[in-house]
Amino acid sequence: MIMKFPNDFLWGAASAAYQVEGAYNEDGKGLSIWDEFSQIKGKTKHNTNGKVAVDFYHHYQEDIKLMAEMGLKAYRFSISWSRILPNGEGEINQAGLDFYERVIDELLKNDIEPIVTLYHWDLPEKLQTKYGGWENRKLVDLFVEYCRILFEKFGAKIKYWVTFNEQNVFTSLGYRWASHPPNVSDTKRMFQANHVVNLANAKVIQLFHKLVPNEKIGPSFGYGEVYPLTSSPADVLAAVNANQFNNDWWLDVYCRGYYPEKILRLLKKLHLDFEITAEDLKVLKAGKPDFLGINYYHGGTVKAPDFEKVKNQKDFDKTDPYLMAADKQAASPESYLFESVENPYLDKTNWGWEIDPIGFRIALRQVYEKYQLPIMITENGLGAFDKLEDGKINDQYRIDYLNDHLVQVGKAIADGVPVLGFCAWSFTDLLSWLNGYDKRYGFVYIDRDDYSAENLTRIKKQSFYWYQKIIESNGGKL
Ligand code: BG6
Repeated sequence: MIMKFPNDFLWGAASAAYQVEGAYNEDGKGLSIWDEFSQIKGKTKHNTNGKVAVDFYHHYQEDIKLMAEMGLKAYRFSISWSRILPNGEGEINQAGLDFYERVIDELLKNDIEPIVTLYHWDLPEKLQTKYGGWENRKLVDLFVEYCRILFEKFGAKIKYWVTFNEQNVFTSLGYRWASHPPNVSDTKRMFQANHVVNLANAKVIQLFHKLVPNEKIGPSFGYGEVYPLTSSPADVLAAVNANQFNNDWWLDVYCRGYYPEKILRLLKKLHLDFEITAEDLKVLKAGKPDFLGINYYHGGTVKAPDFEKVKNQKDFDKTDPYLMAADKQAASPESYLFESVENPYLDKTNWGWEIDPIGFRIALRQVYEKYQLPIMITENGLGAFDKLEDGKINDQYRIDYLNDHLVQVGKAIADGVPVLGFCAWSFTDLLSWLNGYDKRYGFVYIDRDDYSAENLTRIKKQSFYWYQKIIESNGGKL
């Protein structure tokens, strides 16, 4: 079957500042919460951190040259807030602005559309210590001020802006599971912080529409469709609940300006509710995005909750927070809604993430039918162990993964979903937040490991040449 992609489809790849840049304290950059958090022993694999990462800060010209050679049409990257404002507020670090200007100009010179993420998890440390981070409403205005600087400086050069990357992930892992900064394990505080981020998202979108009226902005959401384990109505209801809790809880707010009622009521019952003022509701309604960024890795499968277990929640054991398992704390909202189970039909990656290309088509259809906004695929890719043999990396498994997922994107487009582009995660290998440098995602191998960053040589993998052909044929070779 020949896939038809729009002529201006943005064949891209993505990254995030902390995961690639390095130069963590160079040229006036302030520290971020990740620079601090990664210093706590045992929090990341082999205590890896982003001090050097893959040193994009000094290798950006070389990397963009490789992007141009590949024929890439778009590159999504994030701006590190503390490179622009070392204290998160106050004085601007001109060297930081200059760096991003050089990157943007280099991309444009090579006909690569820059897609800028304003926040990919690296909050300036000073805002955490001084104000308590996202739990404080003060952060809304501070985020808006930081973004104003970028809109004024780069508004004329950037067409696509992403507000927050995976708000669902960084609030849950940061405030509920203590596996990201600020290392908090408190479900109530998570919902409070999440509400503040929602306000920041909506306010910044409003400002953008005023300052940069002709370009587009939207959040990137980590979406996964949740399936019922069986056709038993109780399991189907559990899946409806899970989709509301895992997906609508964020997407309804972004696109409609209100929270799903069922979940709000449950939170109230469990004393996990948070303050929503009349003014907040106005703000949320007024900040509608122009497109939705979707990061897709996997969904989930659920069955009806076992209420006997709910009564005795201490018996639950701990699982990987990335896998969207139900909360194990007392008063876990999930345990009233659904119970996560394995899907017997799906294979898994080396890291236990389910592989589900058809779920991608389902996700794109569901999101579009519900919210009627164009979709930018801001992430999708495979984390795997790659082997460098005779100077080559044969990553056929990555080619298969991406090919299968892109075929489903093509089908979703044929179904009528307006997809603006596809940013593979990632262009070069980079630091996995919790899993170090061995969990590789790139088309370009970076010669470094968890212990040494001496080499940093860039080597094109087999998937590099495959994606080059896909781009050249505008998806015809899928
Ligand atoms: C997404 C993030 O959650 O998944 C990326 O936006 C991240 O920053 C990617 O790297 C893959 O996650 P991991 O844990 O495999 O690095």
